[in-house]
Amino acid sequence: MAVPVIDFSKLNGEERAKTMAQIANGCEEWGFFQLINHGISEELLERVKKVCSEFYKLEREESFKNSTSVKIMNEISENKSNNGGKLEHVDWEDVITLLDDNEWPQNPQEFRETMAEYRSELKKLAEKLMEVMDENLGLAKGFIKKALNDGEGDNAFFGTKVSHYPPCPYPELVNGLRAHTDAGGVILLFQDDKVGGLQMLKDGEWLDVQPVPNAIVINTGDQIEVLSNGRYKSCWHRVLVSSEGNRRSIASFYNPSLKATICPAPELLAQKENQKEVDETTYYPKFVFGDYMDVYAKLKFQPKEPRFQAVVKAT
Ligand SMILES: [Fe+2]
Repeated sequence: MAVPVIDFSKLNGEERAKTMAQIANGCEEWGFFQLINHGISEELLERVKKVCSEFYKLEREESFKNSTSVKIMNEISENKSNNGGKLEHVDWEDVITLLDDNEWPQNPQEFRETMAEYRSELKKLAEKLMEVMDENLGLAKGFIKKALNDGEGDNAFFGTKVSHYPPCPYPELVNGLRAHTDAGGVILLFQDDKVGGLQMLKDGEWLDVQPVPNAIVINTGDQIEVLSNGRYKSCWHRVLVSSEGNRRSIASFYNPSLKATICPAPELLAQKENQKEVDETTYYPKFVFGDYMDVYAKLKFQPKEPRFQAVVKAT
């Protein structure tokens, strides 16, 4: 079984209905799918790869050797103090986050310009995809975008994580990134062409999200699960490390504004109430996204259902 790969350009032609159905299936049955021919130029993607790898070499490679993760792993291997299994509080990941209003790296010179251009393209792709989701869910065009933006303005939280997972001498002891579901809305990942490691949980089984050159991997976060009233479930995923290869991974998050109120779309709520057998635990609460993030920060690597309960108690 391989994560679906969908040709996004076919949305504009004779195969529109089939492509809409493929995306609906990707959202409902998988929570992960890959887009090819997504409209972002190969030339820009090649530049993104280049500047991110150069940035890591120039600014991060040395400092990662002195990172807490490396220190912890060295201590454990010297003292042989691990009892087996993977460590629960460490990730083997180097990461910086780019936002509209934070400080970006100075080097290499083209990094800022290229990443600003890339983020603007990715944001547009996210918005197109949200319209496809609106249509597939039977919601008014723009519903999801409006929910995440807390109205008509441009208030969504759009972040880009530039991550590297350097070769790890102890891949049996540590994950690159421990298993979790994403907190926010739509996640667009530009992953390494060659070094794999990303896995998603499907029907109780961990599957590789296979590298497809210049594809954009899409997954949906907890807020899309709530807005869709559980139709589009956020999917568990993790990153494994290996002793060879430095995995580059650039994940962009189209998340709600921290002030946005999130709750299931009324139309979808009504559909579910009409069904005879409704399980009490499948109801999603109404909450402010910033409150959810406070809970998520403490419970990211734990099951998501208690987070929905905790955010209700916290408000
Ligand atoms: Fe994630």
